[in-house]
Amino acid sequence: MIELKGLSKTYAVSGKIIKAVQPLDLTIQQGEFVSIVGHSGSGKSTFLSLIGGIARPDTGTVNIDGTNIWGYNDKMLSKLRNEKFGFVYQFASLIPTLNATENVLLPTVFGGGRKAADAANLLDLVGLGDKKDRYPSELSGGEQQRVAIARAFIHNPEIILADEPTGDLDEDTEAEIMNFFEKINRGKKVTMIMVTHSSEIALRAPSRFRMKQGVIEQLN
Ligand SMILES: Nc1ncnc2c1ncn2[C@@H]1O[C@H](COP(=O)(O)OP(=O)(O)OP(=O)(O)O)[C@@H](O)[C@H]1O
Ligand SMILES: [Mg+2]
Repeated sequence: MIELKGLSKTYAVSGKIIKAVQPLDLTIQQGEFVSIVGHSGSGKSTFLSLIGGIARPDTGTVNIDGTNIWGYNDKMLSKLRNEKFGFVYQFASLIPTLNATENVLLPTVFGGGRKAADAANLLDLVGLGDKKDRYPSELSGGEQQRVAIARAFIHNPEIILADEPTGDLDEDTEAEIMNFFEKINRGKKVTMIMVTHSSEIALRAPSRFRMKQGVIEQLN
């Protein structure tokens, strides 16, 4: 279970204060599938990075299974990020010198011992079974995004934080990826928090939220 209490974050840029995430309380149950829609700059990526132990909040707590992760030291925080979370970043983040399979295996370099077979299976599931040996420069933007999606699942994380995961995909591929998310969410009880610009994609998640100027509101 993820419990957010009084969580907020501001940025100061050249003397100006930007309230990226205004103080919020929110509880997300284990195995929940949550979508967050909102305009550009509304605070969605910042919100995900507060939950994921990436950006330190100004106020509030992120309790995961009863413990505030922001009370952890850097070492524990980094262990948590590597083990508990699977991240799909908003912008392509593949290592150019590694092929698709090696990129998918990247989160396991720091622990765990997943085999190439697991990477191959995930690449099949995201529709890239025939491109496992390709390097990022030999893949389209949407294909790179799908490698990044596969990578987020390689270490069987409990929580997936996906920032605009289908942004570069055509409708058919987008639908396939959403099916993949739903299947994993149901089958493995993985908690999924997905940010998207698309109201249509957001509807696929049973719990829906909107973010507006740093304020989050429940839609259903
Ligand atoms: N590192 C930073 N330093 C200063 N300001 C930042 C930083 N990151 C984000 N911001 C500002 O905080 C606000 C929220 O940004 P954020 O990236 O969370 O928005 P977003 O909803 O993810 O937008 P998008 O849909 O364009 O990705 C914006 O006004 C942005 O300019
Ligand atoms: Mg963003």
